[in-house]
Amino acid sequence: MLRVLVCVSGGGTNLQAILDAVAAGKIRDAEIVGVISNNADAYALTRAANAGVPGICVSPKDFATRTEFNEGLLAKIDEIAPDLIVLAGFLVQVPEAMVRAYPGMIINIHPSLIPSFCGVGYYGLKVHEQALARGVKVSGATVHFVDEDMDTGPIILQKAVYVQDGDTPKALQQRIMEEAEWQILPQAIDLIAQGRVVIEGRTTRILPGADA
Ligand code: GRF
Repeated sequence: MLRVLVCVSGGGTNLQAILDAVAAGKIRDAEIVGVISNNADAYALTRAANAGVPGICVSPKDFATRTEFNEGLLAKIDEIAPDLIVLAGFLVQVPEAMVRAYPGMIINIHPSLIPSFCGVGYYGLKVHEQALARGVKVSGATVHFVDEDMDTGPIILQKAVYVQDGDTPKALQQRIMEEAEWQILPQAIDLIAQGRVVIEGRTTRILPGADA
């Protein structure tokens, strides 16, 4: 049984998609053992509580320095002892010590088709504002492993979403969440729990097997 920790910062719609997928058997052989938020007011913590999943806040405001926050976050994660850490709208630069402590065990959902519109400064609505400003016809979402840099780890799954005439950043964000993020993040967790994701250098290979 894969022990899954989900890290959040905001509304938690990706967390909700994960919780619903576990309940519906679309994520097999995995248990959501905890939720960590850097934001005490994150509705994601309410979603965790409603699902009976332990949720805690580890906020930079509770630490004198960023280094102490990083150490506190890693200590809490070590206590939970996850097999997989899922960054689901987690707006914190993952400490290098955390990446080193959990190699190939941290994944992230990003609301674009990496390598487009990603990296420092590309998060939330900003991603969609830039995509629309560039005039792309297709955007989407990416699930990837987390390495020491931002949005640069091996890609696991991607799903494309067409931009529609008149799309606002908010409308595009919502459609990408509904049609892509909330589909491929649970799917990636299920694939990992089934042992079907193999990291090969800068890429991954999905082994054949029965989908949920
Ligand atoms: C979403 O746009 C997601 O792509 C990004 O964070 C935003 C909020 O996600 N990673 P959530 O509703 O908190 O899951």
